[in-house]
Amino acid sequence: MTAMSIGIIGCGNISPAYLNYLKDSSVVQVTALADLLPEKAKDRAKEYGIERVYTVEEMLQSPDIDIILNLTIPASHAAINIAALDHGKHVYAEKPLSISLEDARRTLELAEAKQLRVGCAPDTFLGTGLETSRKAIQEGRIGRPVAAAAFMMGAGPEGWHPNPDFFYEEGGGPMFDMGPYYLTALVNLLGPITRISSSAQSLLPERIVKSGPRAGTRIPVHTPTHLSGTLDFADGAVGTLITSFDIPGGSTLPRIEIYGTEGSLLVPDPNCFDGEVKLRRHDQEDWSIVPPAFAGRSDNERGKGIEDMARAILENREHRASGKLAYHVLEAMHAFLASSREGRHIHLDSASSLQLASAYRIADQALLV
Ligand SMILES: NC(=O)c1ccc[n+]([C@@H]2O[C@H](COP(=O)([O-])OP(=O)(O)OC[C@H]3O[C@@H](n4cnc5c(N)ncnc54)[C@H](O)[C@@H]3O)[C@@H](O)[C@H]2O)c1
Repeated sequence: MTAMSIGIIGCGNISPAYLNYLKDSSVVQVTALADLLPEKAKDRAKEYGIERVYTVEEMLQSPDIDIILNLTIPASHAAINIAALDHGKHVYAEKPLSISLEDARRTLELAEAKQLRVGCAPDTFLGTGLETSRKAIQEGRIGRPVAAAAFMMGAGPEGWHPNPDFFYEEGGGPMFDMGPYYLTALVNLLGPITRISSSAQSLLPERIVKSGPRAGTRIPVHTPTHLSGTLDFADGAVGTLITSFDIPGGSTLPRIEIYGTEGSLLVPDPNCFDGEVKLRRHDQEDWSIVPPAFAGRSDNERGKGIEDMARAILENREHRASGKLAYHVLEAMHAFLASSREGRHIHLDSASSLQLASAYRIADQALLV
């Protein structure tokens, strides 16, 4: 199989995870790096033995780059995605696809018009933890899903991220930062979401950077930091989701549980690729471990989604971490904000057009490994 050439734009915190995973791929090869701050691209290129360091414009103009991997901050996602497509390149972006729904729509329309692919993180739902969960549900092991509960109860990224400002801007907060993992997982397990209601708040007006050279710096908060809501799924299940950066004391709540007419499923952390899946049927005394659907890796497999997209291009099939899925998730995240602001349920327009994972077999994993 011919390797497709990837150029990465954005060489910050998350780029090593992708570079580590993709260096072993037979389908893609990272051939060039670019960053607004050239030193960051140079340093990363040296660390990973990548020959070419470009400006963003040089990267876009380069005729032998097939896919742009957009690892910039959320505020830059849309502009880079659209520029990549404009230059005839497929694009795979870190989450969220963009901040505004309008930009995301423009991105998907442009890709459609140019017959190019758009992919988007997260790809953790392609890992063994969430795929084992999906298989258990598809096999009917908990009966018909009736409800889901999902909790991301955190203290905020200023504890570990050296430049956490973007997490507190529009397009950040626990919903736009962590919501994609939870919502993508829930949509993959239960299907599209039709409507959402929520309450959202930010009680602390500023946060303090706690690590790196900027430790002690105060950052203003411009987005809700605690969001709590309900989700109606097209298939009838009702979900509860809380995402929060306001829980410094920690929590004992599970990450995700799915409840069915025959039993309950404990789903592992959707921010990870592996993790134990547990199930308890109504007639069982205790929880039992569900055997993994396939052998996973224990390291960070960020890169699986773009690798699947490249393989899908070569095989002329749909890819799984798709722009359409990311758009649905983005619409859901906006619905959390709008519902709280407007005091009403928000209906999701993208629910009806989302062709989803139920169309895929778990065996497709063989294509991804
Ligand atoms: N840090 C993590 O653990 C993590 C995990 C998963 C996903 N993500 C996502 O990855 C993305 C990047 O996060 P990060 O933590 O690596 O951020 P970061 O701030 O560490 O790095 C972003 C890099 O992009 C560059 N950049 C910004 N705008 C640019 C532009 N217009 N053109 C070229 N370069 C540009 C910056 O100079 C910086 O080097 C975000 O969308 C984030 O949500 C991060």
